[in-house]
Amino acid sequence: MLATLHDLLPRARKNGYAVGAFNISNLESAQAVLDAAVELRAPVILQTSQQAIAYAGLFELVALVTSLASRVRIPVVLHFDHGRDISLLRAAAKAGYTSLMFDGSRLPFRENVQKTRMLAKFAHGLGVSIEGELGVIAGQEDGIRAREHLLTDPDEAQRFAELTRVDALAISVGLAHGRQVLREHLNVARVRDIGRAVSLPLVLHGASEGVADAVLKKSIAAGIAKINIDTSLRISCNTAARRFLKKHPKSYNPRELFGACRDAMRITTGRYLRLFGSAYQA
Ligand code: G3H
Ligand code: ZN
Repeated sequence: MLATLHDLLPRARKNGYAVGAFNISNLESAQAVLDAAVELRAPVILQTSQQAIAYAGLFELVALVTSLASRVRIPVVLHFDHGRDISLLRAAAKAGYTSLMFDGSRLPFRENVQKTRMLAKFAHGLGVSIEGELGVIAGQEDGIRAREHLLTDPDEAQRFAELTRVDALAISVGLAHGRQVLREHLNVARVRDIGRAVSLPLVLHGASEGVADAVLKKSIAAGIAKINIDTSLRISCNTAARRFLKKHPKSYNPRELFGACRDAMRITTGRYLRLFGSAYQA
């Protein structure tokens, strides 16, 4: 069944676990994430970037996820990840997305507040939840790029949460999007400071690579209630595809190839759901 961030995240923060938010862009990735979540009875978020929408189509993604979610008992959020195009965000909410993220992180504070608040009003009017972002997350992913981190300031975060009325807040705490060459430093002390200042569920981006499990767990205890995973699924899928083609150079059945990718993404998703503590919470 479909749900919103508001249905899932306050409970997660209160009970010390995080809900996994996985980037999908086609049938196989959506099935892989949902199958893992159903197997582990975990609430789950399926999210799409603007580029995934450009690839697969807005209405096609809504139809796909709505259809899959209608046949499972766990709560499933269809979330728009890193939305910067306001008219596309509005269209997505009207088409059936149950949650939006407005990424105003590059804007000056006042403009970020003003645009996020305006979209929050719009989203809430439709029963749709919304995530805002404050601070800049370094790295590169689906057209979202930044060279340097700008860590989220706890006092600003508190003002932002109050002024915008978002349901969840994405924070910059030292991690980066995409495949990292250097080991990332997740600043748990900063998560803790923000967690003390803001009672909203906090969102961790860029958590796929180079972060120790124990550090992720500490950040969940400090207030992180949603963790985004994209790069790990991409790597699992591509590694499985390479392995499959090497082992079966004569195969010409795409279902065998895509099936191998789907299996790999399902296994990766399951590992994260256990790590985040959301298994058996649905
Ligand atoms: O918005 C998506 C996530 O922040 C993905 O992060 O590149 O580490 O998987 P990742
Ligand atoms: Zn992100």
